[in-house]
Amino acid sequence: MTRGKLITFEGIDGCGKTTQLRMLERILTGRNIPFVSTREPGGTDLGKMIRAALLNVSPHSVDPLAELLLYAADRAQHVREFIAPNLAKGILVLSDRFYDATTAYQGYGRGFDLTLINQLNNLATGGLKPDVTLLFDLDVATGMERIHRRSGDAADNTTDAQADRLDREPLEFHERVRNGYLELAHQEPKRYRIIPASGSIETVRPLVTEALRGII
Ligand SMILES: Nc1ncnc2c1ncn2[C@@H]1O[C@H](COP(=O)(O)OP(=O)(O)O)[C@@H](O)[C@H]1O
Ligand SMILES: [Mg+2]
Repeated sequence: MTRGKLITFEGIDGCGKTTQLRMLERILTGRNIPFVSTREPGGTDLGKMIRAALLNVSPHSVDPLAELLLYAADRAQHVREFIAPNLAKGILVLSDRFYDATTAYQGYGRGFDLTLINQLNNLATGGLKPDVTLLFDLDVATGMERIHRRSGDAADNTTDAQADRLDREPLEFHERVRNGYLELAHQEPKRYRIIPASGSIETVRPLVTEALRGII
């Protein structure tokens, strides 16, 4: 059986990852393409506990090294318990963030050594790489605006404390993350698709299907 494909969604908070992932789910369902969708952190039962541990604490009480290792632990469980078995069954997997987020946030954002980050990512994933990574590229100010609007929308269950925690980071942190993602995209142009994400939801949606031509 051919291995399923892995598509990951990346970009700063508020860039539209979750919104576009939900739209893609509808398209796949309409085309009768079997898929599963998941996210990091929190794609497994253990991961949900790690997610809660990371998010439900005061903003500055997570040591950066502990944070890095918790994300790695979440990912190791996620790959072994969920992603790899689904791919082995030939199922398409969509993931809202994957190891590139660690490179962008903990590497470029917090300044951990990139060689160390790569080694840790490799250890956690067992070398598994996405077939396609969609990078929703958006300026930081617009991302923040969207997050604030999202927080005010009680009906939006994507609201979570992670946004709050990251929200308190200085603007420069988010700029480093955004530029880090762009740097990764330039390093791996075959895997990455950069999607300009400043347009409306309806403007971005066809860019996603276009970027996935030949994959779905
Ligand atoms: N293209 C867009 N234009 C305007 N608002 C958007 C767009 N995409 C998403 N949003 C809104 O912005 C907020 C953040 O989007 P979301 O998909 O949750 O981002 P992410 O998952 O990348 O953090 C949500 O309230 C969403 O409805
Ligand atoms: Mg999201």
